Amino acid sequence: MKILSLFHPLFQLIAFLVGVANARMGLTRKGFTWRSHRNLGLLYYGMSTAGLIGGLLVNDSLEEAGLKLDLDFHLEVGFFIVLLFLLAAILGFLIHYRPALRRALMPIHRYLNLATLLLFVFQGVTGVSALFRSLLA
Ligand code: HEM
Ligand code: HEM
Repeated sequence: MKILSLFHPLFQLIAFLVGVANARMGLTRKGFTWRSHRNLGLLYYGMSTAGLIGGLLVNDSLEEAGLKLDLDFHLEVGFFIVLLFLLAAILGFLIHYRPALRRALMPIHRYLNLATLLLFVFQGVTGVSALFRSLLA
């Protein structure tokens, strides 16, 4: 059970690193191409959303085994992050296919994506501290 509870955190850590790499590409324009930025971005969104489903499933089986973690607002923030993904992705495609909107939408796309990374850190804190509390209990 203890090993199972680590799958989701480790998977989300990798998703986070993919997101950071894409943010770096966007901010520095190093190696930036439409294809690579779009693909890496979709990978970040896809992995994190799959990780959310994984978190729900793992948490369910932990509860069935009698281990109840106190995760604070982890669940709510998780769903909020996915909402931000959707908005940021729509803006990313609009920036590319509607160049007239580029100037107005770029900062919003940038800050929405950076906000998801910040919330990811929050998820890391609530997730890891819940694990520690349960280990020490
Ligand atoms: C590195 C960052 C993260 C860490 C360390 C972490 C940690 C955890 C832990 C320890 C659990 C309990 C189940 C388990 O052990 O697998 C959990 C559950 C969960 N996580 Fe995460 N998580 C992280 C990121 C995320 C992100 C980014 C999302 C959403 C996009 C997310 C969504 C969820 C959900 C929905 C649950 C189930 C909560 C419930 O059923 O109440 N997590 N997470
Ligand atoms: C569906 C996924 C995504 C699409 C379609 C997309 C699309 C775009 C486009 C078209 C640009 C403008 C490039 C230009 O014309 O110069 C851009 C810039 C940028 N993107 Fe994305 N993006 C996606 C995901 C992401 C993700 C996941 C992040 C970060 C986590 C990110 C961060 C940025 C940043 C920081 C910029 C530069 C903004 C600026 O210079 O003000 N994007 N993106």
